[in-house]
Amino acid sequence: MELLALTEEQRAIRDTARAFVAEHVVPFAAQWDRDAHFEPSLIARLGELGFLGMLLPAEHDGLALDARSYLLALEEVARGDASVAVMMSVHNSLPSQMLNAFGSDEQKRRFLAPMARGERLGAFALSEPEAGSDAGSLRCQARRDGDHWVLDGTKAWVTSGTHAGVIIAMARTDTAELRRGGRGISAFIITPDLPGFKVGKKEDKLGLRASPTVQLVFDQMRVPADRLLGAEGMGFVYAMQSLEHGRLGIAAQAIGIAQAALDHAAAYAHERHQFGKPIAEFQGIQFKLADMATRVTAARALLHTVAAAKDRGEAVGPAASMCKLFASETAMWVTTQAVQVFGGYGYVKEYPVEKLFRDAKITEIYEGTSEVQRIVIGRSLGGG
Ligand code: CAA
Repeated sequence: MELLALTEEQRAIRDTARAFVAEHVVPFAAQWDRDAHFEPSLIARLGELGFLGMLLPAEHDGLALDARSYLLALEEVARGDASVAVMMSVHNSLPSQMLNAFGSDEQKRRFLAPMARGERLGAFALSEPEAGSDAGSLRCQARRDGDHWVLDGTKAWVTSGTHAGVIIAMARTDTAELRRGGRGISAFIITPDLPGFKVGKKEDKLGLRASPTVQLVFDQMRVPADRLLGAEGMGFVYAMQSLEHGRLGIAAQAIGIAQAALDHAAAYAHERHQFGKPIAEFQGIQFKLADMATRVTAARALLHTVAAAKDRGEAVGPAASMCKLFASETAMWVTTQAVQVFGGYGYVKEYPVEKLFRDAKITEIYEGTSEVQRIVIGRSLGGG
């Protein structure tokens, strides 16, 4: 049964991603995880494949694909290594989409093609040490000084921040009023060559260890005035709109992690003998595998239904939150079951599922916690 009714092109994209991951990711992922090593050659390789410009128009060297093709590729990459997937997801969904949607022609010409080709990796800097779920309370300030903006503050939890060539950073331009959210925040195109730009503390994480997550310190950083993205004061709204793309990407990542855990658990259940037979023949294990497969299939079906609506040009805000909420909780649940199927072997690094279990957790946290997704969904139903 072909539940997703994929087109030839969508199938081809998925198969290309699968082949790429089998050759360039799967053999190395466990070691990268052990060493907390980000493999920089992946940026160029993904760029050559077109996977860093999947949603961008052809005039900017993008593949101009539909959202479903992009999410299929992302799921396959996450099945191989969630660390590689988050680099690809953040790059395609957040900075690339923000520039494409809100950038001037000149900004697009300058930044998008190098991003699509993998010459400039993208990052997104919204959160701060004291502004996480309450992103609208961010404190990083941008003050105008002649033909420059001067940015001061620390951004936190920046995926790929060590290797990024373009960072879209949100800073407060309405400093007099310190207004929450809304119109007081602007978006800026930051490059690491700017005076006053510093990569700060690198986080030592539970999972996604091969994806560098850092603080960025802007110390009286001088940003040319033409690096303001879109209209002054619209940065929070742009960031929220872009996170709708981002949340679909994280849902695909979560589904990839969950599918990998299911694959490993099902294979292991047939190999592992206890009480004289494969443990897959015990109904307790069969039921577990059945529930895992059902939830993964449901998460994927929801994601592709919503992505298809997005491809038709419909607004998907709260539905994107539903995808992320359901897929990330599915990933956490399915990886927990996978560890249980493996028993003691699920708890050691020699086997693959403990990494998947660690990697799954962040999908319930970043790009909006499960609680934030419930706020977005609840408000769309008329809640407070
Ligand atoms: N599209 C367009 N506009 C939107 C919007 C959307 N999706 N969401 C909000 N807005 C607008 C609102 O209309 C409002 O505009 P006005 O001021 O004109 O009325 C303005 O933005 C403020 O909106 P809210 O009043 O809803 O803001 P809030 O302070 O109540 O916050 C929130 C709402 C949903 C909790 C939001 O703060 C949020 O999403 N928080 C989570 C932040 C997040 O996801 N961070 C992840 C960072 S990226 C990351 O994880 C790292 C990485 O690299 C992977």
